[in-house]
Amino acid sequence: MTDCWRPFVIIWSAILLAYVTGYKPVIIVHGILDGPKQFENLEKFLNQSHPGTIVTTIALYDYIASMKPLWLQVDGFREAIRPIMENAEDGVHLICFSQGGLICRGVIATLPKHNVRSLIFLSSPLAGQYGDSYYLRYFFPQMYQVKAVAYHFCYTKCGQKISICNYWNDPHQRDRYLKSSNYLAPLNGELEHANLTVWRDSFLRIQKLVLIGGQDDGVITPWESSIFGYYDSNETVVEMEKQDWFLRDAFGLKTLNSKGAVVKCVVHDVSHTSWHSNITVFQNCIDKWLT
Ligand SMILES: *[C@@H]1O[C@H](CO)[C@@H](O)[C@H](O)[C@H]1NC(C)=O
Ligand SMILES: *[C@@H]1O[C@H](CO)[C@@H](O)[C@H](O)[C@H]1NC(C)=O
Ligand SMILES: *[C@@H]1O[C@H](CO)[C@@H](O)[C@H](O)[C@H]1NC(C)=O
Ligand SMILES: *[C@@H]1O[C@H](CO)[C@@H](O)[C@H](O)[C@H]1NC(C)=O
Repeated sequence: MTDCWRPFVIIWSAILLAYVTGYKPVIIVHGILDGPKQFENLEKFLNQSHPGTIVTTIALYDYIASMKPLWLQVDGFREAIRPIMENAEDGVHLICFSQGGLICRGVIATLPKHNVRSLIFLSSPLAGQYGDSYYLRYFFPQMYQVKAVAYHFCYTKCGQKISICNYWNDPHQRDRYLKSSNYLAPLNGELEHANLTVWRDSFLRIQKLVLIGGQDDGVITPWESSIFGYYDSNETVVEMEKQDWFLRDAFGLKTLNSKGAVVKCVVHDVSHTSWHSNITVFQNCIDKWLT
């Protein structure tokens, strides 16, 4: 074989292998202040465990651009993800990291014919965020206890133009949150709106919902937000199953859960930026859902 043919042979072998083994394409959606580079380990794990899998880490709104409003980002990610889905007869798997989890929820809500089989949320603030994480310090480096005052900024028209504010969920400012949050509150069905039924039907097309998180995360606050738990007004964490929007089945989570389609994988000793690079997490929480 001449050297010229090598790349083609490698590519075609990969495609053939994926076809024969039937691995579905995997789409990765990155988090805040990161980009595809941070997912090279995860891509390697995938390649080793499921050789030939076609993996796409979407290179959109990377790094500082990840601060842009989430609905805007959703439009971009949806159009990047749509053709991959359309070419995948047997469906795709989605792995969404951190803020990327919220983007994936927006994409799924607005793609009513999606074919996502496993939706894997890797330490995503699914029920919101209320903590002095380094993302906040990035904007307000001098301030101590930014979280107590962030609502003044986040719950305004201007604030909602920054991604973190789209899921900023101050448990002491319920009314302001419900009035101003134009992303998380409607997605979680905390408000009535015209798209609720369509979004819910779309959510129910997911076959497996995998929630991964842990107490040593250090960024997602409370960390239970990664498994749909959240603070009440006393900052006591209320678990997913007792959340009002769960009990009302406002966006389909209760139905999925009752079908046994929701899996929680709680892992200690993993810091926020190591989730996607930790082989143990991959083997115990991700690998088996990618067949
Ligand atoms: C996948 O693994 C094979 C060997 O198992 C290697 O040749 C190839 O370069 C890897 N591809 C990626 C994208 O890591
Ligand atoms: C409902 O969905 C449509 C199409 O995605 C969008 O244009 C509209 O703003 C949405 N309405 C609400 C209340 O979210
Ligand atoms: C918060 O704590 C106060 C005082 O302990 C209690 O009266 C109240 O019911 C608690 N609120 C919630 C939502 O649990
Ligand atoms: C990977 O995760 C395991 C927990 O499953 C943890 O004990 C270990 O320290 C982690 N490794 C790294 C490098 O973060």
